[in-house]
Amino acid sequence: MNFNNETAVKEIAVSSPAAARVLEEAGVDYCCGGNRSLDDACAGTGVSSEEILARLRASNEPARPEDADWVSAPLAELTDHIRQKHHGYVREAIPRISALLEKVKAKHGANHPEIKTIEGLFHQLGQEMIAHMQKEEMILFPYIERLERARNGGGTLERPFFQSVRNPIQMMMNEHDGAGNLAKQIRKASSEYTPPGDACSSYQRLYSELHEFETDLHLHVHLENNILFPRAVKIEDEKC
Ligand SMILES: [Fe+2]
Ligand SMILES: [Fe+2]
Repeated sequence: MNFNNETAVKEIAVSSPAAARVLEEAGVDYCCGGNRSLDDACAGTGVSSEEILARLRASNEPARPEDADWVSAPLAELTDHIRQKHHGYVREAIPRISALLEKVKAKHGANHPEIKTIEGLFHQLGQEMIAHMQKEEMILFPYIERLERARNGGGTLERPFFQSVRNPIQMMMNEHDGAGNLAKQIRKASSEYTPPGDACSSYQRLYSELHEFETDLHLHVHLENNILFPRAVKIEDEKC
C-alpha cells in the first residue's frame, strides 16, 4: 500500500473493496468526487487524511464473498453484477422506502416537517435513478459488452450513434453527480440518519433504509465511475 495524502481517493477505493469500505465508513466521497486527493476529500468530514491512512494500514478485514476483482474480471461480468446487485436493489428498495415515508409522514409529519422534505428529495432521486439505469441497460452497457467482445475477436463493431463511448459515459457521470447531491441533501435533512427521540420503529427503519440506499449508491457509482467506465474507454482507445 503506497498511499499518501496526495493519492486520488478513487485509486484507494479501486485498490480493494475493503479500502472502499474504510472510506465509506469515514464519510469520505470516493465515487463522484474520486479524482480529488485524499487531503481534499477529507476536508469537512471530521476525519484527517492521516487517520484514514492509519485505518487503511490497520485494516485486516478479510475479503467478503461478494468481493470480486472487478479491475481484471471481464466487463460483461461487471455489467451483469451491477444490473443484478445494484440496479435490482434500487428497483426493489424504492417502493419499500416510499411506502415507509408515506407511513411515517402520516404519523409524524406534523411534528417533523423534515419528513416531507425527505420524501420530496427521495421521490426525485428515485425517478432520476430509474431513468438513469434504463439508459445504462438499454444503451451503454450493451455497447460496452460489444466493445469487449470485438476486442476479444468476437465480431466487428459499428460506430454507434453517440460516436464515442466517452459521450454516454460523461452523461452518466453527470447524472451520478445529481444523484449523489440528492442523497447528500437527504443525509442532511435527516441529521445524518439520526431518528428523533420520539421515533417509532417504522421511523427508525426508514432512516436505516435511507442510509443503506446511500451506501449502496456510493458503491454502485464507484464501480461505474472508477472501474467500468475507465476500462471501457481504454478498450475503445486501443481499438481506434
Ligand atoms: Fe448503474
Ligand atoms: Fe450509473
